[in-house]
Amino acid sequence: MEKSSILRFTFIFAIIFFLFAYSFYPSSKSEFLGSSPCFPWCTSKNRIYSNFDSILENPVHKGTHHHHSTSLQPLDPLSVKEINKVRTILSSYAHFASSFPTIHSLVLDEPNKTQVLAWNKGDPLPPRKAFAIVLLNGQSHMLTVDLNLGQVINHAINSGSGYPALTMDDISAALKVTLADAEFNKSIISRGTPNFYMRPIEGLTVTVDLDQKKIVKFSNTGRGIPIPKSSNTDYRYTAQVKPPELKPLNPMSIEQPKGPSFIVEDGHVVKWSNWVFHLKADQRAGMVISRATVQDSESGELRSVMYKGFSSELFVSYMDPDEHWYFKTYLDGGEYGLGATSLSLVPLNDCPRYSYYMDGVFVTSDGKPFVQSNIICLFERYSGGILRSQ
Ligand SMILES: *[C@@H]1O[C@H](CO)[C@@H](O)[C@H](O)[C@H]1NC(C)=O
Ligand SMILES: *[C@@H]1O[C@H](CO)[C@@H](O)[C@H](O)[C@H]1NC(C)=O
Repeated sequence: MEKSSILRFTFIFAIIFFLFAYSFYPSSKSEFLGSSPCFPWCTSKNRIYSNFDSILENPVHKGTHHHHSTSLQPLDPLSVKEINKVRTILSSYAHFASSFPTIHSLVLDEPNKTQVLAWNKGDPLPPRKAFAIVLLNGQSHMLTVDLNLGQVINHAINSGSGYPALTMDDISAALKVTLADAEFNKSIISRGTPNFYMRPIEGLTVTVDLDQKKIVKFSNTGRGIPIPKSSNTDYRYTAQVKPPELKPLNPMSIEQPKGPSFIVEDGHVVKWSNWVFHLKADQRAGMVISRATVQDSESGELRSVMYKGFSSELFVSYMDPDEHWYFKTYLDGGEYGLGATSLSLVPLNDCPRYSYYMDGVFVTSDGKPFVQSNIICLFERYSGGILRSQ
């Protein structure tokens, strides 16, 4: 392929559908691995294919790296086996002898940049370590676990401000407490309709103490904000008189007769055209791209473009100092976790043929691993030559 035409392709990475699908996400009590907890919510809603037999016959590149018992690259996320090992180490840790803490975060403690950049394929990996943020008796602890040594090598208790990210159990508890509250109930009913988009629930914020499981602050200043009347705004299927009849679309396909031009090595290293980068799923950050390099078109050298990049760097605060808005952040990544709230992508519905799918290996609040399958897909898409100057 000639160089100029390569420019016409844009490499697209997608994590789609961040929904608060509490029902599919494991709480500490759920038995998760090996079951099919998502059904029927783990599929996206923009499906246009109805014949799933043909979808199943199509080739799908599937990442299975999380099943490897050893990691192959310094920045590879913790595997199922490593998460289980951390849990065993924490279970026998003296501080947690009487009760196991709630795990709010458990991720790879990445080797520092110097070590990562000095590492070459074939070298022994830098020591594998995990970093955990846990809550016990109202205190947050930060622990580093060395997987090779099999022990906790660093332990600090947070004495400053700040709290760990919410677990799904926290979120369900907050919902339960709020929905059972008579004042909240009254304020919602007085607002009217179920259509959140036409008639947003504005000016209503409830603060829940998750240790006490009770409402500590209730702010309802939304009265008098002009919003549309509730009549004829119920968008729910059951409220529709007659569903509109749409003419079905003819099938459409974009050919890649020789297959995709990218390859994925060691489960995480993506090579496409003159680009190389490491791609992984993270429970909090969602999708993480690390060590992105490009081969310089003049010197031929691999140049580092970005050491690490997150979706959260697209942070856009809503810029409204109002009490009900200032704490809301782009995609709510900090509160709930972009990876944690992502759903499995459906082949040929969400991502085209020849997509490469990657799973997330995440951790429940009791420290057990679970696999959220196909939450990243990787594919090439023709983008109509938007990068061309003429
Ligand atoms: C990176 O880690 C190595 C190994 O622990 C250590 O020797 C080195 O000083 C660290 N470098 C930086 C910049 O922190
Ligand atoms: C909310 O209000 C409705 C209507 O008055 C009532 O039927 C329901 O029991 C209330 N729920 C709670 C949790 O107070």
